[in-house]
Amino acid sequence: MSLRVGIIGAGPSGMAQLRAFESARKNGAQIPEIMCFEKQADWGGQWNSSWHTGLDGHGEPVHSGMYRHLWSNGPKECLEFSDYSFAEHFGRAISSFPPREVLFDYIKGRVEKSDVRKYVQFNTVARHTSYNPATEEFTLTVEDLTTGTTADHVFDKLVVFNGHFSTPAVPEFGGVNTFPGEVLHAHDFRGAERFSGKNMLMIGSSYSAEDIGMQAHQMGAASLTFSYRRAPMGFDWPENTVERPLVTRFEGTTAHFSDGTQGDPDHNAEADFQSDSLGELIAATDYPPFDLDAVSALFKDWMHHKETNILGYRDMAHRSVITGTMATHHHTRWINAMDDSLQRCLNAPSQDVDTGTLAALTGLDQVHSK
Ligand SMILES: Cc1cc2nc3c(=O)[nH]c(=O)nc-3n(C[C@H](O)[C@H](O)[C@H](O)COP(=O)(O)OP(=O)(O)OC[C@H]3O[C@@H](n4cnc5c(N)ncnc54)[C@H](O)[C@@H]3O)c2cc1C
Ligand SMILES: NC(=O)c1ccc[n+]([C@@H]2O[C@H](COP(=O)([O-])OP(=O)(O)OC[C@H]3O[C@@H](n4cnc5c(N)ncnc54)[C@H](OP(=O)(O)O)[C@@H]3O)[C@@H](O)[C@H]2O)c1
Repeated sequence: MSLRVGIIGAGPSGMAQLRAFESARKNGAQIPEIMCFEKQADWGGQWNSSWHTGLDGHGEPVHSGMYRHLWSNGPKECLEFSDYSFAEHFGRAISSFPPREVLFDYIKGRVEKSDVRKYVQFNTVARHTSYNPATEEFTLTVEDLTTGTTADHVFDKLVVFNGHFSTPAVPEFGGVNTFPGEVLHAHDFRGAERFSGKNMLMIGSSYSAEDIGMQAHQMGAASLTFSYRRAPMGFDWPENTVERPLVTRFEGTTAHFSDGTQGDPDHNAEADFQSDSLGELIAATDYPPFDLDAVSALFKDWMHHKETNILGYRDMAHRSVITGTMATHHHTRWINAMDDSLQRCLNAPSQDVDTGTLAALTGLDQVHSK
């Protein structure tokens, strides 16, 4: 009997696993029996975003931190597949910081080239698993959400790709329950349009805080205060934005802050760490190797651009490490980009009213991508 492999989740990780089996099969390997279970009706995980996020039509929680107007926060050249380039997918150069729908299209394009969708049972949620050490087998109980029926499947190996950003961390702060304004976890954030004219406090100093804060600024928030636990982000923020140490308590609408220690986040250390660990991982697979040092250099350029211009770094263009293709400059500066659809991103005319001054406004004349 051939090996039986169960896969939970068909987000980018589950899709990559399915494709890796297909790649091994094409290279002549005997691949196992595969079954993949995805509780949503389509694959893509966080990138398969719709208004069903939250609670779907089956009453099933659909956890996702994804939101409208999500543009990649890192250059696409840092996340490009070495066996499926952006140039191959789109047939031309595109900009370096695409919105969610464009990235979703690319992620899907890679797996749609192979015939792996047949392994996925959609609308099927993994409910329970147990391991029998005597037989070295996993029993997985799944529920078909369309019929309400359950079934047990036995596997020799079980790979879990249910997504590590699916459960929000929910801290407590004194007085937060009687704060008269709206209190929202980033996990439940779906778009910043309604924050126009509002004074916002963002607790956290990482990617979500920065990105949601700057989107709120883009949409016309009156002021932004970032509150950090460990260290401030330290960007050159717009005038209406400040960073404060951690909130200790709320009294009515007033937030009180602690005297947290301050530090300078070492962004380059993250880029170096990622290239080292990625190199080891890639060497253990049949994934085509590529120049990780060049990607690490791209990360450093990106960090530098963010430090130079937090509202303009997405207007920069980077060169593909995989194909050498130079990205185009997007037709609309990020600060003016109010439509994040694939159609608008790839085909529509600029929404800038002042395209002639693009270079001066984004600092492109001072900071050049390699
Ligand atoms: C707001 C936000 C922005 C991001 N931006 C970027 C970015 O720009 N670039 C980048 O590289 N990464 C980004 N990420 C990281 C993102 O997590 C990864 O890109 C990617 O989605 C991780 O893939 P995954 O398959 O591991 O998990 P997920 O995408 O979370 O997919 C998990 C899948 O498992 C399914 N599932 C969960 N539980 C079960 C169950 N019990 N039974 C059956 N199916 C189940 C879910 O329905 C889902 O389809 C972002 C994440 C967030 C939250
Ligand atoms: N546009 C985009 O592409 C985009 C947008 C948003 C998010 N993302 C992605 O989503 C992923 C998650 O990012 P994230 O920023 O949500 O998570 P994160 O990187 O894990 O950051 C969580 C933040 O919350 C703070 N925090 C946690 N518990 C706290 C507590 N009890 N009190 C005070 N602060 C607390 C942390 O503080 P400490 O620093 O002190 O630990 C940290 O600043 C990343 O991969 C990111 O790239 C991408």
